[in-house]
Amino acid sequence: MKPIQIAASVLSCDFAHLDKELSRASDANMFHLDIMDGHYVPNLTFGQPIVLKIRQLTKIPLDAHLMVTNPENYVAPFASIGVNWFSFHQECVYHSHRVVQQIKSLGMKAGIALNPATPLSTLDCILPDLDFVLLMSVNPGFSGQEFIPSVLEKIIQLKDIITKNSLNTLIEVDGGINETNASLVIAAGADILVSASYIFGSTDYSAAIRSLRGS
Ligand code: DX5
Ligand code: ZN
Repeated sequence: MKPIQIAASVLSCDFAHLDKELSRASDANMFHLDIMDGHYVPNLTFGQPIVLKIRQLTKIPLDAHLMVTNPENYVAPFASIGVNWFSFHQECVYHSHRVVQQIKSLGMKAGIALNPATPLSTLDCILPDLDFVLLMSVNPGFSGQEFIPSVLEKIIQLKDIITKNSLNTLIEVDGGINETNASLVIAAGADILVSASYIFGSTDYSAAIRSLRGS
């Protein structure tokens, strides 16, 4: 079994002290960047200037989660900044196969994000092309929401499909993850756990990251 990876979502960090916050969370395997446009989700976050600053402040892989319409417009700019993982929501593109190939051709890992109510069957024709699937365990838009338990069954089903088809696709789970539900999400088959408020709301980020890993 592969070791679980933790993606610390900077959405809940103190942006006034970005440098310090990133180094306090540097036990994470990657930093998760929630990019929101106020159209696809009812919230605004940040774009390339902040992503570039984060890239300059850390060598840890960057995992961009685009909750925006027309995510294809950001593939090349994010690749040139040095983002390593790039996911977009299925509803936001007409030609997901093309966008996935575009992401991979620029050297990033490609993922598609599914909202809690979007069925796995929508991935049937694209799953073998994906490096990862991002399963939302809250409705996208905000950190600090409660984990939706029905997503556990979805993780189990996706893991089963991946195993039966001998795929290498990783499962990333995003939203409401804390020390109580992390072990259930890992047992269901997750490879990467995203966490914002649990990590950045704790006093000791390293301890919080360890507790999510169950170590
Ligand atoms: C929600 C974002 C999540 C969010 C997670 O739209 O995609 O990545 O930052 O926040 P927590 O861990 O607080 O639920
Ligand atoms: Zn996210």
